[in-house]
Amino acid sequence: MIYFDNSATTKAHSEIINTFVAVNEKFWANPASIHEFGHHTNELLETAREQIAEILQTPSDKVYFTSGGTESNNLAIFGLANKYKYRGNHVLISAIEHPSVLEAGKRLSTQGFKVEYIPVNKDGVISLEEVEKLLRDDTVLVSVMHVNNETGAIQPIKELSSIVRGNSRALIHIDAVQSFGKMKVNFDELDVDAITISSHKIHGLKGSGLLALKKFIEVEPILFGGGQELGIRSGTTPVPLAVSTAKAVRMASQNIEDHVEKLQKMTNDLASFLQTFSIVKLISPENRAPHILTFSVRKLKGEVLINALQKEGVLVSTSSACSSRQIKTSHVLKAMHIEDDYIKGVIRLSLSTMNTLDEIQQFKKVFRHVMNVIKGE
Ligand SMILES: Cc1ncc(COP(=O)(O)O)c(C=O)c1O
Repeated sequence: MIYFDNSATTKAHSEIINTFVAVNEKFWANPASIHEFGHHTNELLETAREQIAEILQTPSDKVYFTSGGTESNNLAIFGLANKYKYRGNHVLISAIEHPSVLEAGKRLSTQGFKVEYIPVNKDGVISLEEVEKLLRDDTVLVSVMHVNNETGAIQPIKELSSIVRGNSRALIHIDAVQSFGKMKVNFDELDVDAITISSHKIHGLKGSGLLALKKFIEVEPILFGGGQELGIRSGTTPVPLAVSTAKAVRMASQNIEDHVEKLQKMTNDLASFLQTFSIVKLISPENRAPHILTFSVRKLKGEVLINALQKEGVLVSTSSACSSRQIKTSHVLKAMHIEDDYIKGVIRLSLSTMNTLDEIQQFKKVFRHVMNVIKGE
């Protein structure tokens, strides 16, 4: 099997699975318990938090473990907008966000907030001029993803933050689910206030992730109960998942330059290959994340190609795994105004460092064969 669907999820590193098992076996106490066993388990939890805080260069009491990207995005959108609503009720979200941001935004707009959407250009990159026009004195939050999950387009976060800082008092949240561990992500340098990371996209475990904030930034909780996770996320903290998340974050940050180089080499090779087909159009812009390459075959349904590739042992997906079981056309492709001839045939290849150059060569053979059968190309 050749697995090119790593933006949907990645295979967990065996070291991370081993960590999860070991913590479950040895430190299964409730970290809030007063006895020594609870105390030791809590120490492990806090060490995990500190390790992440050190990598993100933020105080450890600003790192909250969550159930993943969706929860972290919800916590950021509702939590920041509500905490700072005394500054205003205007929220800006990009038109190409993941549904966990878009739907949270929709819900906010029924709760007294005015939510507006930042358009993108044909490359799927937000328009900074539009951001400048849309910002208002009462803008309280701007949420833009770092890398788009459907196209790999890298968003100009640093430029965005300087415009937002220069023109408003709004807070900035980035969804870094598709960038962290795939390229260098410096939370401090990007000059944003909140960042979402999901473990299962970086070879960690499903159902875990985090939201980190900068020093002095606060969020309103969205889960209420016993006040765990520093009052921000009630419910007994799953220490094995938290420790596994810290391990995934550490492993994803180590040798990042080498990871980027390897991923870039593989996807650049795929891009050159795909461009030799006259009916193939690359959808990913040149400035894309190193692990994602999205393309389309003219007048061909994506599902037909996915099934044909699957028969040959190659697993890929339509542009987003979350919506690929739905018939709806992707909101990202619509926002990019992809032509009718291409919009239904969009395929996303998403790689990880577990993939090899040999698999790229095998993919080329399979793709040539499949195109020959389907399209006679
Ligand atoms: C950009 C982006 N944000 C958020 C999520 C949601 O993450 P999770 O699956 O951990 O809830 C995804 C997952 O597909 C994603 O690609």
